[in-house]
Amino acid sequence: MSRSAHPAGPRHADVLPEGHYSAPAADLNALDEKVWSRTVTRDADGALTVGGIAVARLAEEFGTPAYFLDESDFRARCRAWADAFGPDADVFYAGKAFLSRAIVRWLKEEGLNLDVCSGGELTTALDAGMPAERIAFHGNNKTVAEIERAVEAGVGRIVLDSFQEIVRVAHIAQRHGVRQRVQIRVTVGVEAHTHEFIATAHEDQKFGIALADGQAAEAVRRALALDGLELIGVHSHIGSQIFDMAGFEVSARRVVQLLAEIRDEHGVELPEIDLGGGLGIAYTSDDDPREPHEIAKALSDIVTRECESAKLRTPRISVEPGRAIVGPTAFTLYEVGTIKPLEGLRTYVSVDGGMSDNIRTALYDAEYSVALVSRTSDAEPTLVRVVGKHCESGDIVVKDAFLPADLAPGDLIAVPATGAYCRSMASNYNHALRPPVVAVRDGEARVIVRRETEEDLLRLDVG
Ligand code: LLP
Repeated sequence: MSRSAHPAGPRHADVLPEGHYSAPAADLNALDEKVWSRTVTRDADGALTVGGIAVARLAEEFGTPAYFLDESDFRARCRAWADAFGPDADVFYAGKAFLSRAIVRWLKEEGLNLDVCSGGELTTALDAGMPAERIAFHGNNKTVAEIERAVEAGVGRIVLDSFQEIVRVAHIAQRHGVRQRVQIRVTVGVEAHTHEFIATAHEDQKFGIALADGQAAEAVRRALALDGLELIGVHSHIGSQIFDMAGFEVSARRVVQLLAEIRDEHGVELPEIDLGGGLGIAYTSDDDPREPHEIAKALSDIVTRECESAKLRTPRISVEPGRAIVGPTAFTLYEVGTIKPLEGLRTYVSVDGGMSDNIRTALYDAEYSVALVSRTSDAEPTLVRVVGKHCESGDIVVKDAFLPADLAPGDLIAVPATGAYCRSMASNYNHALRPPVVAVRDGEARVIVRRETEEDLLRLDVG
């Protein structure tokens, strides 16, 4: 469609409606390497390629919407985390961000451990051959059946999240004649998101056992008294999409203080602490995440310093990044269907997916970037809102972004940094078919999670 047939929305130089957006990039065709996976580039024709394959070919072969995951980038990020923390620490990938059997195999090959938080994730991990001792099992309400399965499989640790669970896991372990290695998840009174953290009064949530009021110390007392449990450490997870290390600093200080209290009361020095996940990634050019080696150094410096001052042996540290490993490695490819310029507001660009493949914008007001990827364009930037095809006005994929004014139906656009919490939180709303995840590497693309079909929908609906 030509520009005259399709009047552009408001220019950035004109009056702009409210929103969270920076001025458009000087060149909308440029790909900011912060938000795109490492092998993404544009070919001579201007089309985006990943792993050496152009998006038009990917769209033709696998359809849209679809997630394309850059396998070599995923593996490189695993290695970067493992190398940064070194042999004296453990990196557990948080499977909730995105899990499939291929992912499990790559984790295993790259030397990472795995966090699971449900029976389904545990099954996937075991089925794909992750050794049970490299699996940690999380959750605030694990069922008895899930605990049984985890204990039987011999998972390396179960992270205890309540007083009831301490007893439940101990009984089940005893029944199986084993001592289950466990950590206790404590709530340290810190909540961190992006650049902010709040260091008090955040015990008001469902996870963990509060340090405040001596609850965590009581949980430790009970766990140490039960034969079925081997208490190996304390766990803390403080939030999501965190850039500022200050929240980790407070959390580490409070966890180490608990270890010192445990030593004083019980004469035991617990050998491990887990500082959780939550490290931020770049969704837009405004985000500046830290590299794994900076994070590793900051965390180990904090823990070492706190242990020195408490005269404790430094425990083995573990971390649980999910988003920071898989998030940047994938983008979602959509085809533009309809375009509605709203005079004085913005242009609504509808794509063939939406809140069923990315709920994060609707749920958290998350910010994403977007680019025209089937070609380049020199047309001027237009403020757009990328929306889905669902029957809901909150069905927004990218709230505020700039795309070229000559964008037309049939163009392919891509939203980067959708590797984490998009496919894993996808739904069948409006009986949408959940998109496939396609791994791309060295000129080859293969489906690792196939697209749902209408047959799949009917098979679940038993009539
Ligand atoms: N460890 C524990 C105990 C967690 O609860 C989580 C995330 C992680 C590790 C991994 O966090 P990550 O490094 O991926 O940020 N659905 C939300 C995120 C929920 C995270 C819940 N727990 C989102 O889309 O932003």
